[in-house]
Amino acid sequence: MPHKVKGVVSRAKGAPVELTDIVVPDPGPGEVVVGVQACGVCHTDLHYREGAVNDEFPFLLGHEAAGTVESVGEGVVDLAPGDFVVLAWRAPCGTCRSCRRGRPWYCFGSLNAAQVMTLEDGTPLSPALGIGAFAEKTVVAAGQAVPVDPAAAPEPAGLIGCGIMAGFGAAVNTGNVQRGDTVAVFGCGGVGDAAIAGAALAGAGKVIAVDLDPRKLEWAGDFGATDVVNASEQDPVEAVKELTGGLGVDVAIEAVGHPKVLEQAFYSRDLAGTLVQVGVPDPTMRIDLPMLEFFGRGGALKPSWYGDCLPTRDFPILIDLYRSGRLDLDRFVSETISLEEVEEAFGKMQKGEVLRSVVVI
Ligand SMILES: NC(=O)c1ccc[n+]([C@@H]2O[C@H](COP(=O)([O-])OP(=O)(O)OC[C@H]3O[C@@H](n4cnc5c(N)ncnc54)[C@H](O)[C@@H]3O)[C@@H](O)[C@H]2O)c1
Ligand SMILES: [Zn+2]
Ligand SMILES: [Zn+2]
Repeated sequence: MPHKVKGVVSRAKGAPVELTDIVVPDPGPGEVVVGVQACGVCHTDLHYREGAVNDEFPFLLGHEAAGTVESVGEGVVDLAPGDFVVLAWRAPCGTCRSCRRGRPWYCFGSLNAAQVMTLEDGTPLSPALGIGAFAEKTVVAAGQAVPVDPAAAPEPAGLIGCGIMAGFGAAVNTGNVQRGDTVAVFGCGGVGDAAIAGAALAGAGKVIAVDLDPRKLEWAGDFGATDVVNASEQDPVEAVKELTGGLGVDVAIEAVGHPKVLEQAFYSRDLAGTLVQVGVPDPTMRIDLPMLEFFGRGGALKPSWYGDCLPTRDFPILIDLYRSGRLDLDRFVSETISLEEVEEAFGKMQKGEVLRSVVVI
């Protein structure tokens, strides 16, 4: 029987989100219904509300979640009610051209539930990143529900479902940070700080945090930044060069989603350095670079979707790092809130007051 539950819906571009009744169907074949326990507020949710992702309103927001499996659809054999899971927005299909070539972390046909969640009047909802977890329950493809050690609390665990994985993977997978590398991370929100933590764990010699907000720079130190640059007070390219003997960094990570910042990260690299873009641009943004600089500096420019992660491989690894005290996921949880407070949490995010507000259900 379909369930009527509360969910946070974005009905129109720029309008405040609403907590309203939604209908979650029973799981279809290959699907599961998950009782959401915690879900972080990511900047991408705000991008959806601002119409910067697409126009498929109304959206059911929320996509950084942990919870327990409540019911499983036909053919689901590897999950059972009661399993503790983190939801993933990549569930490799196994059949696309990337999966077939043995690169499931790039899957081009990632699975989502075919069942549609709706408003009470039957209006279909677009779940953010195919998840929609600012809700008491959500329906997802079984492959999106990744079992992890239930000893981890849902608030920190859920965060690995998006921002932490995206940032950590941007450094470790996409940027391939190696022992002794120099790294600069532009933008020290939840995503950027996870990139800092990933770079530090990979053994980077120097991890330079760049932000406009002194509070964010102070927090970046807790995740392993060795140096900080306040880009509102100094030219960040010059500052990064100064901190690296005039050379620039081996890996520069853009975790803001702004063309100016991408350009700064581009010029902050040493020769043959790698630029990783993890910040999400809006459709109006453009970059204009001298082709000679692109060619003459060598190296690589690499967008990173979800930190090039394979959730079934990487989520348990991050939870193990957390449980053994090597990755402080609790430090990302700035506050816990209720479903009613998501709109307020967007304001706090924009003012730089939090790394992550986490909805607890
Ligand atoms: N690629 C992916 O898979 C993926 C996944 C999750 C989030 N994201 C994106 O990553 C970006 C960051 O997300 P978040 O949740 O950490 O956001 P956030 O709002 O918490 O953090 C952004 C940070 O950037 C800083 N900033 C803003 N302008 C700056 C500038 N000019 N120079 C330096 N720093 C600046 C802010 O002070 C803030 O600390 C967003 O664009 C989000 O959509 C991408
Ligand atoms: Zn695939
Ligand atoms: Zn996200």
